[in-house]
Amino acid sequence: MKRIAVLTSGGDAPGLNACIRAIVRSGYYYGLEVFGVKRGYKGLIENNFFTLSTRDVSGIIDKGGTILLTSRESRFTEFKYRKIAYKNLKKHKIDGLFIIGGNGSFEGAYLLATEFDIPIIFIPKTIDNDVFGTDYTIGFDTAVNTVVDAISKIRDTSYSHERIFIIEVMGRKSGFIALASGIASGSDLTLIPEYPFPMYLIEESIEKAFLKGKKNFIIILAEGVAHAKDLRATLMERLKKKGIEIDIKYSVLGYIQRGGSPSAFDRILATKFGVFAVKQFLAGNKNIMVSFENGDLKIKQLKDVHKRVKKPNIEDFDINSIVNFV
Ligand code: F6P
Repeated sequence: MKRIAVLTSGGDAPGLNACIRAIVRSGYYYGLEVFGVKRGYKGLIENNFFTLSTRDVSGIIDKGGTILLTSRESRFTEFKYRKIAYKNLKKHKIDGLFIIGGNGSFEGAYLLATEFDIPIIFIPKTIDNDVFGTDYTIGFDTAVNTVVDAISKIRDTSYSHERIFIIEVMGRKSGFIALASGIASGSDLTLIPEYPFPMYLIEESIEKAFLKGKKNFIIILAEGVAHAKDLRATLMERLKKKGIEIDIKYSVLGYIQRGGSPSAFDRILATKFGVFAVKQFLAGNKNIMVSFENGDLKIKQLKDVHKRVKKPNIEDFDINSIVNFV
């Protein structure tokens, strides 16, 4: 009986449990023995392996977070610790390692796959959606829904008090969450790192909106562009110089974006990724990432994804600018 192990690594994202469940259930369905590793790479180094049964994953498809726990393990950047991890995998006679992670974890997966003879199957998850080679990562859809819901609530108060709001969203260096939320919420301006927007144009947009009689204004700010607090100060200062004295409010949505019950889309994506990943392992494919591109499940070689940067489509950026221009 072949043995596989699964771990979750890096920032949590809604849908991780659905994916773990799918790997465990399909693993046993196809005659594999399944192990869990606690706290991601930390558990690999510290030998924290345990058997996972089909019952262990009951009732978790709708739960946020990860039953396996997660961490950002800096020791994994060092070869000596990756070697310890490899030895622990051998100790437990693991034939394949399933890593559910984002960009940071990808680097560890890539190094492990190149340095040692342990087949790696990587499954992309991150609310940021910034993993190259896949249109969607597990957790992104739920995070966007959380943001859109929060924006609707803030818009109520923005409208009633005739105020400008800056809403800071996560995404690390990428603007996927901001852009998708901008389109879905119809916010006035979306600032993302990939397609920079000069300061004078931000002022002009507000001025134009006010001249047209619009009294409220919502700016979605990707955290990779600036902190909401700083943008607020700069904007207020610059508008004041133009004779516009207004108090701008801001909200940093923060970690609520990482939690909560996964959306149906994320549960389905996570389940498909999990089953597909197990099938790929059984077919003898190794050192691959599973991906979802143009509506299909695909496999990518880790080396083809390594160090590549994914950007939001310029078409989406244009669509957002066209429809939200007031
Ligand atoms: O990668 C997911 C993410 O939530 C980013 O959007 C954010 O910048 C970062 O993780 C926060 O990381 P940490 O959990 O280390 O605070």
